[in-house]
Amino acid sequence: MEGVTTEMLSVNLPPLPRASSPSRSFIYFASVYESPIKFQELEKNETDGLIECSIFGFTHANLALPLHNHPDIHGFIKVIRGKIQIKSFSWLDPDEEQKLMKLNMASGDHLLHHKKPVRFAGKTIISSEDKTIASLCPQIGNIHTIQSLEDGAAFFDLLIPGYIGRPCTYYADEVENPNFDEIYWLRTIPEPFCARTMRSMPYDSIHWLD
Ligand SMILES: [Fe+2]
Repeated sequence: MEGVTTEMLSVNLPPLPRASSPSRSFIYFASVYESPIKFQELEKNETDGLIECSIFGFTHANLALPLHNHPDIHGFIKVIRGKIQIKSFSWLDPDEEQKLMKLNMASGDHLLHHKKPVRFAGKTIISSEDKTIASLCPQIGNIHTIQSLEDGAAFFDLLIPGYIGRPCTYYADEVENPNFDEIYWLRTIPEPFCARTMRSMPYDSIHWLD
């Protein structure tokens, strides 16, 4: 996965925005797995649901995928253009989580059923020039937000297994400057506007649709 590049994926990413072009910031998505060239050596039924791979891209810097989890999924990220920042939180072990939930319940927090205690796992900055692959595990770093630090940043995203039958949950990104390893409460929210309006593009010809 370290060697994943735009050349290897045979994609021409959308051009970088020009200063003179009208601003139309958005996030796009293309499913590599669902493309006509997907893993043709494997039988479809053997791989469906076991793996999901996609390309996510940002037209501009300072756009972000909302804070979300990958339920019981291993995620791997390789940047293929520009630079991104991943900010992530880890689930607590079940005993610790239960203990904190009980304590909070005793304090009369009425919104408790919309909240989960998590531990801040840090921020990671990676660029397409790095060989680095970010790993988001079922427990460690599972809840995350990804922000573009440069115009046109894009990354390849591999999920094992895929999302099928277990959608992600979104959380409010309300913690301004979290401290590493400290516990914070994250509040669940409905699917944010930017996730609902993410533009889907055909993988074999990623380009602007208008
Ligand atoms: Fe994700």
